[in-house]
Amino acid sequence: MTTVTTHQAEDDARNESILIYVNGKLVPKSEATVSVYDSGFMLGDGVWEGLRLYNGTWAFLDAHLDRLFEAAKAVDLNIGHDRNGVKNALFETQTANDMTTDAHARLMITRGTKIRPFQHPSLSRSGPTFVIIMEHSRPKIPRPIRLATVPHLRGLPMTQDPKLNSHSKLNCILACIAAEKAGADEALMLDVHGFVNTTNACNFFIVRKGEVWTSTGDYCMNGITRQKVIDLCRANGIPVFERNFSLVDTYGADESFLTGTFGAQTPVCHIDGRQIGDGRMGPVTERLRSLYKDMIMEECA
Ligand SMILES: Cc1ncc(COP(=O)(O)O)c(C=O)c1O
Repeated sequence: MTTVTTHQAEDDARNESILIYVNGKLVPKSEATVSVYDSGFMLGDGVWEGLRLYNGTWAFLDAHLDRLFEAAKAVDLNIGHDRNGVKNALFETQTANDMTTDAHARLMITRGTKIRPFQHPSLSRSGPTFVIIMEHSRPKIPRPIRLATVPHLRGLPMTQDPKLNSHSKLNCILACIAAEKAGADEALMLDVHGFVNTTNACNFFIVRKGEVWTSTGDYCMNGITRQKVIDLCRANGIPVFERNFSLVDTYGADESFLTGTFGAQTPVCHIDGRQIGDGRMGPVTERLRSLYKDMIMEECA
């Protein structure tokens, strides 16, 4: 079976002529480049956010900015703009591309251009580098996702805090490669104790007997969509638990789904060759998708 990715979108020819924001300038995609000395290119030294535009509004923008500024502070990176400056860059890019809805932005900030090709942050003298790639984007994931468990773990916070949306995603990329080689679409990653944690690019949920379970939140990205799903469960009388659970609980689940800004809630049908539930999107997943759509309509009215 051909693999699909959790970030697949409809082909859109307009994306060939988009303008990219590079350090305050809007340049055609073919001319949008950064230096080979850039800290992000050379070392993965940067932080990023993925945002989605619905009906003229960037969903949960404040939560994304909170996470971005928190990550930048943690890695001691000066974004060079305050919150309004970042917002203005986003809006400027949106206006230049004439985008009103169904767009996705990847906002990236690195420590900037280095004077020598080595690691020390003090060698990054002209920074930061601030890039926004904004694309027309309608998610099109043709079937439920198949996951494979991989040996790559979600690490402890003192190694590289898995809550950091850093440019260095090699652990997740290796996990994804291992999953693909096992015939799956994305990797299911365990924490250091062997509990089921998250996938390489999305947060992970199961549904058992009407209850929604997700990991404790340690070791995984503090996903904004993850939190919104938890909030929706609480507001709508759906029992929800942030808890440790194992692969046994997971294989035996009635439903499973992923969350992320790009795809909202994406059903999972197979894990390590076991079918989950009846192999189709289940009723709780469907209900949460519908509640999330309503939430977006309200947020982005
Ligand atoms: C590893 C990982 N998990 C989950 C997510 C989903 O987070 P959000 O719902 O905030 O998009 C992301 C997105 O940045 C991610 O990189």
